[in-house]
Amino acid sequence: MNVVPAKIAARPPDREEPASSLVLNGERVDYAPREGERLSDTLRALGALDVKVGCNAGDCGACTVLVDGEPVCACLVASMQAEGRAVTSLAGLRAEPAMQRLADAFHRNNAAQCGICTPGMLVSAAALLRRNAQPSEAEVKDALGGVLCRCTGYRAIIDAVLGTVRDVPADDTIGTGVPRIDGRAKVHGTERFGDDVAPADALALRVIRSPHPRARIVFGDLAAFAAGTGIAAVLTADDVPGANRFGVIPAFADQPVFAVGEARYRGEAVAAVVGDPDVIAALDASTFPVRFEPLPAATSPAEAEAADAAVLHAGRAGNLMCEGLVRKGDAEAALARAAIVAEGRFRSPFVEHAYIEPEAGYAEVVAGRVEVHASTQAPVMDRDGLAGILGVEPDAVRIVPTACGGGFGSKLDLSVQPFLALAALKTGRPVRCAYSRTESMQSTTKRHPSDIHCRIGATADGTICGFDFAGTFDTGAYASWGPTVANRVPVHASGPYRIADYRATSRAVHTHNPPSGAFRGFGVPQSAIAQEVLFDDLALALGMDRLAFRQRNALANGTPTVCGQVFTQGVGIGACFEAISPHWARALAGADAANVAGGAVRRGVGVAAGWYGCGNTSMPNPSTIRAGVRADGGIVLHQGAVDIGQGANTVIAQIFATTLGVPLSAVEIVGPDTDVTPDAGKTSASRQTFVSGNAARLTAEALRAEILRLANAGPDAVIHTGDGLVVEDGERRQRLELTASGPYALEAAESYDPPTAPLDANGQGAPYAVYGYAAHMVELDVDMELGTVTLVKVTAAHDVGRAINPVLVDGQIHGGVAQGAGMALMEEYIPGRTENLHDYLIPTIGDIPPIETLIVEEPDAHGPYGAKGLGEHALIPTAPAILNAIRHASGARLTAVPATPDRVLAAIRAAKAAP
Ligand code: FES
Ligand code: FES
Repeated sequence: MNVVPAKIAARPPDREEPASSLVLNGERVDYAPREGERLSDTLRALGALDVKVGCNAGDCGACTVLVDGEPVCACLVASMQAEGRAVTSLAGLRAEPAMQRLADAFHRNNAAQCGICTPGMLVSAAALLRRNAQPSEAEVKDALGGVLCRCTGYRAIIDAVLGTVRDVPADDTIGTGVPRIDGRAKVHGTERFGDDVAPADALALRVIRSPHPRARIVFGDLAAFAAGTGIAAVLTADDVPGANRFGVIPAFADQPVFAVGEARYRGEAVAAVVGDPDVIAALDASTFPVRFEPLPAATSPAEAEAADAAVLHAGRAGNLMCEGLVRKGDAEAALARAAIVAEGRFRSPFVEHAYIEPEAGYAEVVAGRVEVHASTQAPVMDRDGLAGILGVEPDAVRIVPTACGGGFGSKLDLSVQPFLALAALKTGRPVRCAYSRTESMQSTTKRHPSDIHCRIGATADGTICGFDFAGTFDTGAYASWGPTVANRVPVHASGPYRIADYRATSRAVHTHNPPSGAFRGFGVPQSAIAQEVLFDDLALALGMDRLAFRQRNALANGTPTVCGQVFTQGVGIGACFEAISPHWARALAGADAANVAGGAVRRGVGVAAGWYGCGNTSMPNPSTIRAGVRADGGIVLHQGAVDIGQGANTVIAQIFATTLGVPLSAVEIVGPDTDVTPDAGKTSASRQTFVSGNAARLTAEALRAEILRLANAGPDAVIHTGDGLVVEDGERRQRLELTASGPYALEAAESYDPPTAPLDANGQGAPYAVYGYAAHMVELDVDMELGTVTLVKVTAAHDVGRAINPVLVDGQIHGGVAQGAGMALMEEYIPGRTENLHDYLIPTIGDIPPIETLIVEEPDAHGPYGAKGLGEHALIPTAPAILNAIRHASGARLTAVPATPDRVLAAIRAAKAAP
């Protein structure tokens, strides 16, 4: 199948440039590119939307196509150079049997999660398989090394290309690894992301941003600029009819759509230009009439808390945005009586989400309402935030999420949406925008940099005795999810351990840095590094096995958490350690054997644990799911939980179908759309399987009860679909005669809100109904002369309560491990220096070792069928396990990430110099 008809013009025929032609997917097409236009842009203008753009700089590989049969990054090819060439995208390969097998393998292996990297991966893999039908793993890694994936951890991709393919289960009820129900579009390249959906006549929008971390903004003659040819509108704060302010937590909303008077971070928006796409594409932002006068900036909490530092926000003296506290027992007294105390200061930098899909979408005005189609994790929050900005009621705004090419927390915040909505209202035209990679990295939220001081005591028998933690977090220029991080960290800083005497404080401090926000773990990965490295200190000092030390102190049913919450069931960290235990013994013996010969490369093994409360902290957190049965018996699930690649569409539908008692294939899905799906809450905090899954279960129970009531059938009756709705109750089969006055003859909508309780002044209470638990073991090699670290294997045990879909569970764990490895070893966002995927490194396919997942099922009474959340848990233990393995291998005790070779070497030298 070809994505374009023959002879389509990429540019309007009235352009004066001579047309060129190329052969796209077997059809000759004419095109007339702008001077210097990239082939990636030309191909997309020609309709080849399976060619994705993640960086436009040759760094991500999402745009990979074949040019005369060779894989190339289309963004690195000038369109004119493609004159007369044969260009083949994924769409042009789909008819080939080898590609069909490969796409099927990707689908069955869950090798396409969000799917944004998938076309580039498949094209690269197809090129490899054409020249080498049976490649080795090393050859696969070599061939796919230029294509980045932020979701999968690559292992499922490697298996798919090698031909190691999972079986598709015959059954699709919960507990089976049925392939994701939205997976085919991803492997066929037909999934539509934020930059794929705008109408052809849409105007384009470019944001004008501050080049300085702090600057006075002085506009010139905007009216004269706006009168320029092809410019439809110039937007500034004066064009915001409602509040020029937004934020994910209403009480802390502090971020302007457009900065007024002063920009508070590099990359902050001050204006936007809307116009013809060609004009906007050619726009030189330096010609925009604005002068930025740099002002002294505070780029660290220490600078921001100096007496003479500028206060970023009125009412937040000393730039302190908020604090968190959990206190139980008497930490100081316990530390004083401890046999041994470990202490350390631990630091981590900004970490960039680096999803392969930059923020993108379009907006238009439809019947007087604003509709925004964009990549997001939180449609209802987007709607309500936009309503405030536009000065309208929420029902005057409609949010239709596109497919989301990765989010990991950052797409919980508004990005392109306010600009697009304002522009559509001002111009009356559809308006589109896709951030460049650099502006995505400059302007959107990051993981909070942390500076943690921690002391942990232990008795001589290895029992934790006193824990004191103080963390300062750089929350950047605006609040975003900073308050959530400040609240979560003290609750989680203990790790999943039994600690009677505990004090943990957190502080979120404003700086002139990008806003820090939500990123897989909300501050917990940073605190886990401090706690787990100090646990190794204690175990080593006491001469204890490091895993045994953790097992001795692990939480169990009936033991209170540091918040005083007692779970009588469902605490699975002990089972995770138990699952790791035989691997631990094997790995330690393997490291000993590997190190016998000596040499520069030393093998080490590390272990660490993590826990994470699923859902909001001590706050309402409801999800609502709706379902209906049409008069023809068709079953429709209105599923508003955004699937950002983790698999919510499949998992929630599996829970619904199993509870209703019908095959998954019988359920039609209506995806998120604020007009037609009820609020399932945001996709964050590992809440969708647990919270929306429960709402789906309740909805299915209600619908099933109604169906059985109409059929006068007993609770064990079987519902048949496909040819109307037939209920089989023993010997009796009854076809239901349904009529509908609206879309549905039968309908149900149910909500679920996890039972939590507020925390008191000491952080005591019941912040979460459910926690998930994990333990990771890492085996790695350290080159003692170079300081380089090579991961050998990760073994990851996760208590998920009930694995609704084990294949998707594996996928989440693999992806989390990869992100944890990046955090541990290479990722550091520095404003002004690492604002692209060339200077900011994320793991490639060559960086991720084999990952063995050990699924532990310690059911929780609150979860649907016992299920717990998983998304954040998968990352939390990885980085500390890596640091602990580096130390085991080399003696290097690292207290800062990333553990780059220079840091590792310095720590090795320090260890050797120590008495
Ligand atoms: S878009 Fe071409 S390599 Fe990233
Ligand atoms: S599946 Fe690869 S980036 Fe999302």
